[in-house]
Amino acid sequence: MVLSPVNGLYGRVDLPSDKSIAHRTMLLAALGDGTSRIVGYPKSADPQSTLACIRQLGIRVDEESEGTLVVHGRGMHGFSTPSEPLDCGNSGTTMRLLAGLLAGQGVAATMIGDASLSSRPMRRILDPLARMGAKISATDGHAPLVIEGGHPLSGMTYTLPMASAQVKSCVLLAGLYADGETTVVEPVATRDHTERMLGVNAVAVGTARHLTVRGGTTLGVRTWRVPRDFSAAAFFLVAGSIVPEGEIRMPQVGLNPTRAALLDVLRAMGADIRVEDEREVGGEPIADLVALPAKLHGVRIDGATVANLIDEIPVLAVAMACAEGVSEVRDAHELRVKETDRIAAVADNLRAMGADIETFDDGFRIVGGKPLVGAPQQARHDHRIAMAAGIASLVAEGETVLDDPAVAAVSFPAFWDTLSTLRV
Ligand code: S3P
Repeated sequence: MVLSPVNGLYGRVDLPSDKSIAHRTMLLAALGDGTSRIVGYPKSADPQSTLACIRQLGIRVDEESEGTLVVHGRGMHGFSTPSEPLDCGNSGTTMRLLAGLLAGQGVAATMIGDASLSSRPMRRILDPLARMGAKISATDGHAPLVIEGGHPLSGMTYTLPMASAQVKSCVLLAGLYADGETTVVEPVATRDHTERMLGVNAVAVGTARHLTVRGGTTLGVRTWRVPRDFSAAAFFLVAGSIVPEGEIRMPQVGLNPTRAALLDVLRAMGADIRVEDEREVGGEPIADLVALPAKLHGVRIDGATVANLIDEIPVLAVAMACAEGVSEVRDAHELRVKETDRIAAVADNLRAMGADIETFDDGFRIVGGKPLVGAPQQARHDHRIAMAAGIASLVAEGETVLDDPAVAAVSFPAFWDTLSTLRV
């Protein structure tokens, strides 16, 4: 795809529904004893992977109307043994959360993924699940995961060794089936959708959060409403800030505080982002967002903030390249094990455009404000790297050539069409 710079971006963006929340609504609806509805289930490839796996496990899901799914849950032990491997595609959330449920239900299954997912670390879930009594084999800590059926789980207390909502959620979901209590200790807070949806309150112990579930819990049926994805909004918050003119409106965006740290960071950089009509939908705060052009300056982010904007860092790096002065991201080792090594990918793409960027094991440092120039950009099979390159191209002089724009469909199928409707 050949991309060119713009003078301005004007209009309204209908963002896809939240990917993280959508996966969880599907999993929990499948465990309910009866019919649940999910309003606003996204067409993005990752949540569709979860849907396909759930169907393979014998749960009927009908599309009632555009985006509204009816899930015929079969209770906490309703999965049937799948006859084929469960294909999680590109989706780490599908593989890691569903592994917890399969281990809990004692269902024998093989989980596979695409090349990217097959290279991502799975020991982070295999170790805690093994401690609970599950028998899962993998190849050198990677998918395919082969889950043996019929091993009952025992509760435990588990301190997360890394800031990962997927690992936390995997252990909590397995804990719904374990003998006794399972407590996850989270030294650094990560996205809290799972505990919100399960109705589990975090207990603060010093700076850590303790989350406890009990085996034998049952889940009710309900209607889930999925807000629009803040992580998708991130691309347009940055785009609206860095282009010379414009006004981008984004209605009904999820603003869960464990997800929305980018908003504060962009504002600290000088961004002019308006938050209008704050309200709550389905237990999650939402608002309408408006992004206007602004002069940005550099910022440093590290520590606990990083977990609350981890998926937004590729596009934040673009804002940093456009900001006057020095910016730095540290304590972001987890970026190395996303859909690709996002530290290397961001640095290579921005450097190709002329940015001054130095990398560290756990982040990068950008001396911002140098004019960007169009250059070849590699998506590396990573949706967020592809979309971040698309945003950088808006302010890069000349032509930018992106090798794999289609990968955006993992979280935002309409991304490129949406971007082109805003251009003036
Ligand atoms: C997610 C958690 C995060 C995030 C991913 C979605 C989730 O991954 O990067 O896009 O839905 O729980 P980690 O748990 O690996 O940090």
